[in-house]
Amino acid sequence: MRRSSFLLFTGILVCLLFLALSHCEEHRLPEEKLLVVTVATKDTDGFRRFMRSAKHFNYTVKVLGRSQKWNGGDYMSAPGGGQKVRLLKAALEKMKNADQIILFIDSYDVVFASSPKELLKKFQQSKHRVVFSSETLIWPDRHLEDKHPHVREGNRFLGSGGFIGYLPNIKEMVANWTGEDNESDQLFFTKIYIDPAKRKSINITLDSKCRLFQNLHGALDEVVLKFEDSRVRARNVLYDTLPVIIHGNGPTKLQINYLGNYIPNAWTFETGCTVCHEDLYSLKALKESEYPLVMIGIFIQQPTPFVTVFFERLLKLQYPKNRLKLFIYNQEAHHGPQVSSFQQNHGSLYQDIKVMGPKEEIDATASRNLAFDLCRNDKDCDYFFSLNIEVVLKNENTLKILIEQNLPIVAPMITRAGRLWSNFWGALSGDGYYARSEDYVDIVQGQRVGVWNVPYVSSVYLVKASLLRSALKDYELFNSPILDPDMAYCHNVRNKGIFMYVTNMHTFGRILSTENYQTTHLHNDLWQIFENPVDWQDRYIHANYTRIMKDNLIETPCPDVYWFPIFSDVACNHLVEEMEHYGKWSGGGNVDTRIQGGYENVPTIDIHMNQVNFEKEWQKFLLEYIAPITEKMYPGYYTKAQFDLAFVVRYKKDEQPSLKPHHDASTFTINIALNQVGLDYQGGGCRFLRYDCSVQAPRKGWALMHPGRLTHYHEGLPTTGGVRYIAVSFVDP
Ligand SMILES: *[C@@H]1O[C@H](CO)[C@@H](O)[C@H](O)[C@H]1NC(C)=O
Ligand SMILES: *[C@@H]1O[C@H](CO)[C@@H](O)[C@H](O)[C@H]1NC(C)=O
Ligand SMILES: *[C@@H]1O[C@H](CO)[C@@H](O)[C@H](O)[C@H]1NC(C)=O
Ligand SMILES: *[C@@H]1O[C@H](CO)[C@@H](O)[C@H](O)[C@H]1NC(C)=O
Ligand SMILES: *[C@@H]1O[C@H](CO)[C@@H](O)[C@H](O)[C@H]1NC(C)=O
Repeated sequence: MRRSSFLLFTGILVCLLFLALSHCEEHRLPEEKLLVVTVATKDTDGFRRFMRSAKHFNYTVKVLGRSQKWNGGDYMSAPGGGQKVRLLKAALEKMKNADQIILFIDSYDVVFASSPKELLKKFQQSKHRVVFSSETLIWPDRHLEDKHPHVREGNRFLGSGGFIGYLPNIKEMVANWTGEDNESDQLFFTKIYIDPAKRKSINITLDSKCRLFQNLHGALDEVVLKFEDSRVRARNVLYDTLPVIIHGNGPTKLQINYLGNYIPNAWTFETGCTVCHEDLYSLKALKESEYPLVMIGIFIQQPTPFVTVFFERLLKLQYPKNRLKLFIYNQEAHHGPQVSSFQQNHGSLYQDIKVMGPKEEIDATASRNLAFDLCRNDKDCDYFFSLNIEVVLKNENTLKILIEQNLPIVAPMITRAGRLWSNFWGALSGDGYYARSEDYVDIVQGQRVGVWNVPYVSSVYLVKASLLRSALKDYELFNSPILDPDMAYCHNVRNKGIFMYVTNMHTFGRILSTENYQTTHLHNDLWQIFENPVDWQDRYIHANYTRIMKDNLIETPCPDVYWFPIFSDVACNHLVEEMEHYGKWSGGGNVDTRIQGGYENVPTIDIHMNQVNFEKEWQKFLLEYIAPITEKMYPGYYTKAQFDLAFVVRYKKDEQPSLKPHHDASTFTINIALNQVGLDYQGGGCRFLRYDCSVQAPRKGWALMHPGRLTHYHEGLPTTGGVRYIAVSFVDP
C-alpha cells in the first residue's frame, strides 16, 4: 500500500468513527427533555422526601394540584385517582414540544434511586414511546386478567403510579378522559393498554422486569438493599435489575419509609448518612430570649429509681429556662415529695410549671392527651418535649440537637444499658406490634448512624406544636380500646402520613429498668445495684474510683494498709440515713453471737447489713468494686467477697467513743468512712499497733483495706465530739 492511500484509508476510518459517535450522541436523550410531573394536593412528609430525592439527582419537577382539595379518595389508600388524570390532561394541553419526555409519577410514597440519565437510557432501551410500571397483582378489576398480553418474563399487569413517555403519546392517551375525580385512573389506563389497537398506536409497553420502576406492593420479597461504597441501591433480585424509581404503593408505606432511610442518601458505614436531610434549623444565630418555647411534659407513671437524679439532670439541660414550661404528671404518691421539692426549690426558674398529682385521679392516657392540649392551646408553644421519668438523658444538649433537626417528630435514641432494648421500633408486625427490622441491631449498637424514619417511638421525643394544631389536632390521640397509649399515638401519627424519626447521631442516654423497685426503704435507690448497675455506680461510687488504678490514687498510710476513694458523698449520706432511719442500734448484747470461734469479743454499737436486707447488694458491691482492688494490691489472692459480718458502726462520745485493740475475724477488712472529720465529728481514726502507725484524718467516702486476723492488730481511736460512722466488712472470714 502506498503512503497516500494509507492516509486516505485512515482518514475514512476516523470519519466513520466520528460519524458513529456523533450518531450515538444524537440518539442519547438529553436530560433537559425530561420533565417530572406529579400531583400533590398536600405538602406531606412523604412529598417532601420525594422532592429531596428529586433534588438530589437533579430532576426537574412540576407539581400539580398544590393546595387544591383532593377528591380522589383517601390519599393514604388511594382507590380513586381520577383527579390526577384530570390535572395531567389540563397541564399537558399547554405543552407543545413534541420531543418532550414526561415522567408522571406519584410522590407521597416514591423516591428516586438514580439519575435522569439512567432513567432515560433505560426508557430508550425499551424501544417504546410509553412505558408503564408493572404490578404482580391485578387491580382494580380482576376480570380483565385474560385480556392482558402475556409477557415472556416479569410482571404482567399495569401500574398507573408511574409511567414515562413522549408528550404527544401521553396527550393522546389522556385525551378522552372525562371521568369523575374519584374514578380509578388505574382502570382507565388498563383499558387502553389491553386494547391491542390502542396499545400499538400509542406504542405502550410495561416495565415488566422493573428496570425503571419498582412497585413494592406484592414484591417485597423481590427487593433488597445493595450497599455499594458510597451509596445504596434497591435491587430486584428476581430479575436482577436496579430500578430507578421506588414506589411504596398499597400497603407498603412502612417499607418505603424504611428504604427511604437509605435511598437516595449518600451513605457510608464509617460516617453514617452524610446527607440525612438538608433542612436543619440553627439555634446559633438566636439570642436566648428568641429560642423556641418548649413545653416539657414529664410523666411519672410507676415507682421509679433515681427520681432525684432525674430532676438534678433536668436542671442541667442546656436550654434557657425562661423558654421552658414544665408540665409534671405524677401518678405515684411515693414520688410526691421529690416532685414538690423540685417545684419549690427550682420551679421559679422556669417560665411556668404545672404539676398534677395522684389526687387528681386522671389516668396515663388522659394525662398525655391533656399535656398535648396544653401546648396546642398555648399560642406561644413551639414544641412539646415528652419525657418519661425513667429516661436518663446524659446528653445535656439533647433538646437543642432535636430542635435543630427540624423534623415533625424526632426522638433521641436511648437504650437500656447492655441490652438491645431501645425507645424505637424498626418495623411493625402485621397486627401493629413490634417487629425487628433488618437494621435494628446495627442502629442500636451504633454500627449505622443517622436519622431514621421509624414506625414507633416512645419514652422521649420532640413534637412540633404546629402539628398539634393541624394534622394532630384530635384531642384523643392516645386513646384506643386495645392499644397502649403510646402505640395508639404512633398509630394515629402514621395514619396521618406524618413521619417519626429517631436519631443516633449522638449519644443521648439510656432508660432505667423500673422492675423490682422496692419502695419500703428510706433510700430505695441503694438497692438498685442489680437492676440498674450503671446508674447505681453513677450515683454511689466515688467520681475518682475509675481513676485509682491508672492514676495511682491508692495510698499506703501504713504497711499493707491501702487507702482509696470508693463511695460518693451521696452514698455515705444515704447509708447513714438509712441506718438511722432503721434505728435499732445494738449495744454489746449481740456481739457474742457475732464473733465466734475464739476471737476476741469486741462489742460495737452497730447495725448489720442483713438487718436492713442489704446483704445481697453489699456482697455485689464488694465483688464489683472491692475485689478488683484486693486482687491488685494482694497479688495471688483471689477473694470470693464473702462475709458473715458487715455493718455500720456508730462512734459517739457518750455512747461508744472508741474500740479497744483487736484482730478482725477476716482475711481482709474494709473500713469505709461515712462522714467527715472536723465537720461531723472530732477525733477518731484507726491505729495499727504492730507498726505503731495511725490513719488519723479519715476521708469521707474513702476505704481502708488491711489484712485481718494475723498482722493488723488495731484499735479504733476515740471520737471526742459529734458522731462518727464507718462501714466495716470482714471479708472471707
Ligand atoms: C443539574 O441541572 C442543572 C441545569 O440543568 C445543571 O446546570 C447542573 O450541572 C446539574 N447538576 C448535576 C449534579 O447534574
Ligand atoms: C414503537 O415505537 C418504536 C420507536 O419509537 C418503534 O421502533 C416500534 O416499532 C414501535 N412499536 C410498535 C408496536 O408500534
Ligand atoms: C378517544 O376517543 C376517540 C373517539 O371515540 C377514539 O377514536 C380513540 O380511539 C380514543 N382514544 C383513546 C386513547 O382511547
Ligand atoms: C364519586 O363522586 C360523584 C360526584 O362527585 C358521586 O356522585 C359518587 O357517589 C362518588 N363515588 C364514589 C364511589 O365515592
Ligand atoms: C478527684 O481527683 C481530683 C484530683 O486528681 C480532685 O481535684 C477532685 O476533687 C477529686 N474528685 C472528688 C469527687 O473527690
